[in-house]
Amino acid sequence: MLALTINGVHQPLQLKELPDPQPADGEAVVRLRAAALNHRDVWIQKGQYAGLRYPAVLGSDGAGVVSSVGNPQHADWLGREVIVNPGLGWGDNPHAQAASFTILGMPENGTFAEYVKVPVQNLYAKPPHLSWEQAAALPLAGLTGYRALFSRAGAQCGEKVLVTGVGGGVALLVLQFAVAAGATVYVTSGSDEKIQQAVAMGAAGGANYNHPDWPGQLKQQAGAFDVIVDSAAGDGFAQLVDVAAGGGRIVFYGGTRGAINNLVPGRVFWKQLTVLGSTMGSDAEFAAMMEFVNEKKLVPVVSRVFSLQEGNAALEFMKSSSQFGKIVLVIGG
Ligand SMILES: NC(=O)c1ccc[n+]([C@@H]2O[C@H](COP(=O)([O-])OP(=O)(O)OC[C@H]3O[C@@H](n4cnc5c(N)ncnc54)[C@H](OP(=O)(O)O)[C@@H]3O)[C@@H](O)[C@H]2O)c1
Repeated sequence: MLALTINGVHQPLQLKELPDPQPADGEAVVRLRAAALNHRDVWIQKGQYAGLRYPAVLGSDGAGVVSSVGNPQHADWLGREVIVNPGLGWGDNPHAQAASFTILGMPENGTFAEYVKVPVQNLYAKPPHLSWEQAAALPLAGLTGYRALFSRAGAQCGEKVLVTGVGGGVALLVLQFAVAAGATVYVTSGSDEKIQQAVAMGAAGGANYNHPDWPGQLKQQAGAFDVIVDSAAGDGFAQLVDVAAGGGRIVFYGGTRGAINNLVPGRVFWKQLTVLGSTMGSDAEFAAMMEFVNEKKLVPVVSRVFSLQEGNAALEFMKSSSQFGKIVLVIGG
């Protein structure tokens, strides 16, 4: 099969011919029609990720058709259109993943390839209302956003929610989930145009985080926020505390802007805030996310589509933060 491999830190992806994966008992092989990028792929290329192993096939998100199964007992999956839950081995504890939990696309070979091998239990029927590209855009970002917004922060209908850096793949799905759940949603972005695009998708307003007084602008528009969903962290995180309502919840699943060095403890405890970390999600949360997407007919936003051969250009596009939503690779015909 053709696959994009990474062979070391700061190395470009290389398109190579690799042996087709063979499914063992309990596994299936999916012939991929589309895959999607996550910021994780950039961190791995930069060497800023735990458990690096080379060579590897990156890619956590994929959608395609089941082409073989390891056990005839699973033959009913053959030929079915699926998307793949990229969380491997979450375990039984809904509160946190098992120590052995991994994410598809290192250490296990991922979806930037013509075929991927996954456990049968990670297969889910592709939502019929989604194209291949839209389906591939959903899994990792949808799972992360769903757990952060609903399971961790407990966002409710009628609450005021702030989503930071809305152009990001996860953030944009969080906006869609929160709007669909009946929350009033505001956003931040480094781009005024992306804020306008978010408003067109149901956001009530927003502010540009490059403006020195973005917290003041948000307070003027919205007052204070019950729930804040962030993936930037860094020094801007302290200002999220300023715009949180008393008793508010701030959940973060990323640290794109690095360490939080300036958090004033008194501001957090005086406001009775809850600060929550969140990563990926359990199998049950993946199933719940899929149900929510199917019920509300949500459509992930595909910012730009590249071919598998253009994998390096796709990674550069992500590094430039030009995207509004997910960056997708189409595979095969
Ligand atoms: N823990 C987990 O399970 C998990 C899962 C997925 C992602 N993540 C992490 O979450 C982060 C986002 O991932 P992604 O795949 O959604 O990435 P992405 O599509 O590359 O999005 C990154 C976004 O970050 C926003 N951003 C940059 N600087 C910011 C700032 N100072 N304040 C607010 N937002 C800022 C930008 O938004 P604008 O374009 O709107 O300016 C940018 O589009 C990454 O660090 C990733 O590793 C963690």
